[in-house]
Amino acid sequence: MSKSDTSNGAAAVMAPPSTRTSTPILGLDVGTSRIVLSWKDSEHYSFNSQLNAFVAVPYTRMTENALRREGVPFEKHDQELVVLGNEAPRFADLLNVEMRRPMVQGVLNPAEPESLPVIRTIVETMVHQDDSGKPKVYISVPAAPLNGEEGLTYHEATLRQMFGDMKYPVQVINEGLAVVYSELEDTNYTGIGISCGGGLCNVCLAYLSMPAMSFSMPKAGDFIDSSVAGVTGDLANRVRLAKEDNFHFNGAYPEKLHQVIAVYYDDLIQSLINSMRDAFSNSKKMSKLNKPIPIVLSGGTASPKGFRDRFEKLLRSTDFPIQISEIRMARNPMTATAKGALVAGLAESDN
Ligand SMILES: Nc1ncnc2c1ncn2[C@@H]1O[C@H](COP(=O)(O)OP(=O)(O)O)[C@@H](O)[C@H]1O
Ligand SMILES: [Mg+2]
Repeated sequence: MSKSDTSNGAAAVMAPPSTRTSTPILGLDVGTSRIVLSWKDSEHYSFNSQLNAFVAVPYTRMTENALRREGVPFEKHDQELVVLGNEAPRFADLLNVEMRRPMVQGVLNPAEPESLPVIRTIVETMVHQDDSGKPKVYISVPAAPLNGEEGLTYHEATLRQMFGDMKYPVQVINEGLAVVYSELEDTNYTGIGISCGGGLCNVCLAYLSMPAMSFSMPKAGDFIDSSVAGVTGDLANRVRLAKEDNFHFNGAYPEKLHQVIAVYYDDLIQSLINSMRDAFSNSKKMSKLNKPIPIVLSGGTASPKGFRDRFEKLLRSTDFPIQISEIRMARNPMTATAKGALVAGLAESDN
């Protein structure tokens, strides 16, 4: 998938990945579910994304040639071919096997030996190196949860090392802050950026572009899928498909599955609001804010129709320590983090 939007985010048009001209700066969102790359061509921000997933299929030369002809990213091992990215679910379905994922809950899965080679191959496929030298890559990383660090140091250090091995200069940027950079130029980068993904929700409160408080919460889309599956007896993957295809908040749910999805969505949103309330109440810095600030919502889990309204309703009925001026959706919830990482890079290089 490749997309571009204008610099004000108004339009989103499809563009083939091959139109990417070389740029010295790239933004990269390495998420539990998807890896999203962003770059800027003249006035346009463009994006390309791959699922952060893979599946091993038996090796035959026929299959290898077929994958190569189709341009499907894969790795060749002795007995098997490892199919990566957007094509992985189709192969998993055909072969009736589980898709595997290099990351869990927002960070690299140390128990998955294929994690690093898989992410490296996906990134290399997306970045298409040309002769103009190695681009500098700005990568988003999650914030620590409120009560620990949960593999974050390993995640960040390992990604840095991986990009070092590929000889790409790399900088990391907090994921919630990237959402602020992507969406809040009109408030001079003051406000709260939230990204609700597969493994984590990430939150950052920024004041004039500076991160004042950030944290992650290990409850997001995967939590909804597995909790609903536990209640209805469906496979988590089937819940995920139903949720992505046609779930929206409308108060009435004739289908049992949708009603249960709504229950766990409410649980997720209320937990997120409670975590924000606790984090912001405990921080002395918050008293310095002298006017109401906006909240921006982004990420795949924030995309169902009605999510914003539901979030606002639950927030307004919570005793919240900060005055909120408005709650808005990111212009493109699926690419805001990658765009914000790029915005950070472009600002630093004065491009
Ligand atoms: N249209 C949609 N409606 C509801 N959930 C969605 C939709 N699209 C993606 N998701 C969910 O969003 C999560 C992935 O969000 P994303 O921002 O891509 O995550 P990550 O940052 O973890 O890679 C998954 O749980 C996925 O099921
Ligand atoms: Mg994300």
